[in-house]
Amino acid sequence: MRDFLVAGNWKMNGSIAANAELASGIVEGVPQGGGFRLLVCPPFPYLAMVGDILQGSNVALGAQNVSDRESGAFTGETAPSMLKDVGCEFVIVGHSERRALYGETDDAVAAKFMATQSAGMIPILCLGETLEEREAGTTAEVIDRQFDAVVDMAGVSAFEDAVIAYEPVWAIGTGMTATPEQAQDVHKHIRARLAGLDVGLAEKIQILYGGSMKGDNAPGLLGMPDIDGGLIGGASLKASDFLAIAAAAVQS
Ligand code: 13P
Repeated sequence: MRDFLVAGNWKMNGSIAANAELASGIVEGVPQGGGFRLLVCPPFPYLAMVGDILQGSNVALGAQNVSDRESGAFTGETAPSMLKDVGCEFVIVGHSERRALYGETDDAVAAKFMATQSAGMIPILCLGETLEEREAGTTAEVIDRQFDAVVDMAGVSAFEDAVIAYEPVWAIGTGMTATPEQAQDVHKHIRARLAGLDVGLAEKIQILYGGSMKGDNAPGLLGMPDIDGGLIGGASLKASDFLAIAAAAVQS
């Protein structure tokens, strides 16, 4: 049985005061029970501060992006070792907003995936199709292309220390959640593709769902056999909303 991972992607939101309150609210409300882990990914300026608040709790710290370079003249970039230094255990790579708005290619995402692991952190690799791609019937093709780019560069064994997040672009921030069956279909496809390369890794890897996940739809999504948690945007910005999703992840 895989544990659930419930991850909050705070995106570009908050302030010192708001993010301290959010982090404290989450730490104070972590549900009793086991079989799950929580993770928050604040904007860069708040990582260290939020990390301090999370100390000693069951809530991990992660970043939303990373450079694929180690150090030097790369103005505005953040090295993997710096994220590790401030306490990050996870890094989101290849979020669709990075791909669509900042031109990150499949290969750039693969390089960030590898750089994250080189610094001793776990990449959360985001995969997902747009509405046009889904309507054109190319969902599997798009997911395979995004996934294969990482396998080709990093090798399949790299998935030993990685998480995958399926985030259909059309469900992100739209309130239009994939149904549990729609999400399960794609999760199953991703796991089968990995199983074609390594059955043991496919059984082990956590595949999270992201896209308008909320407390009320979380039980249905998390009840599907291949959905191992959530990557949550909007509903991760209020402690009670995030904790309602976390409650759905408690396994008896
Ligand atoms: P929403 O939960 O706001 O749809 O965002 C999902 C997401 O992009 C998480 O990375």
